[in-house]
Amino acid sequence: MRIDVITLFPDIFQGYLSESMLKRAIDRGIVEIHLHNLRDWAPDKHKTVDDKPYGGGPGMILRVDRVVPCVEDVRAMCPDPGHLVMLTPQGRRLNQAIVEELAQFSRLILLCGRYEGFDERVRLILRPDEISIGDYVLNGGEVAAMVVIDAVVRLVPGFLGDEASNREESFSGPDRLLEYPQYTRPREYRGFRVPEVLLSGNHQAVAEWRLQKRIERTRRRRAELLGGGWRFVWAEEAEGHGVAGELPPTLPGGKQAEQKEPQTPAGKKSSEGDIRRPESSSHGASEGFPAQPPED
Ligand code: ADE
Repeated sequence: MRIDVITLFPDIFQGYLSESMLKRAIDRGIVEIHLHNLRDWAPDKHKTVDDKPYGGGPGMILRVDRVVPCVEDVRAMCPDPGHLVMLTPQGRRLNQAIVEELAQFSRLILLCGRYEGFDERVRLILRPDEISIGDYVLNGGEVAAMVVIDAVVRLVPGFLGDEASNREESFSGPDRLLEYPQYTRPREYRGFRVPEVLLSGNHQAVAEWRLQKRIERTRRRRAELLGGGWRFVWAEEAEGHGVAGELPPTLPGGKQAEQKEPQTPAGKKSSEGDIRRPESSSHGASEGFPAQPPED
């Protein structure tokens, strides 16, 4: 995968790119990262890339006549035009489903903002995929771009070595539950023992225990992820019946999650009633509501 980053501060990336896993992947040719300084596209003597907002107001705005030519030139640097991502707090909020979407592209171009943001015409002309890494405002898009890179490269074949480890991670795999608790030696520490089942050598029992823990942990900590509420109630109740791991094919947040609008007992649309769950899109995965258990 090739990733181009357009930024006013390319040096911010140097430490991150020259350390650990990412460096190894770059050295092995699994990912290529190219940094471009937006200032190089400023034709004037002072290399200005920003200006005061029309209509007044605080801060400076990145100029459209700097950003658009820069993106177009970077795009033309290789035959694959790539997928343009603008890092902005106004974008769709990043989650693992979006990371998976981005990882499908063989080239990403990450556009980092600074100051008070971009002239609106940048969006209108380039129509980027606008991504936010969370509901807070950073000083610029660079840290957000590093987050995107870090999450996406893990999904590039060959990066982790063992792709199975991705399926077991929190928010990953078809069900998008949190990960189960993990233990290693020693078996006992300060009175805390490793759960007996993990030492049993019984793979079926271990798989059942892990599924149960993932469901329990997700319900307690991030109930809104249990968008496919009823199905998880069933999966949980099936636990111990020898069907561990056989989660139903319709799942929350995931690509296969083609869910019909659930009906409340009164026959109302879910959005009007009290049983609500997220949409089956990647956007919905983090915006749903806790599943309601059945009422007797
Ligand atoms: N730039 C500033 N804040 C940001 C955020 N939360 N996500 C992505 N880019 C940003």
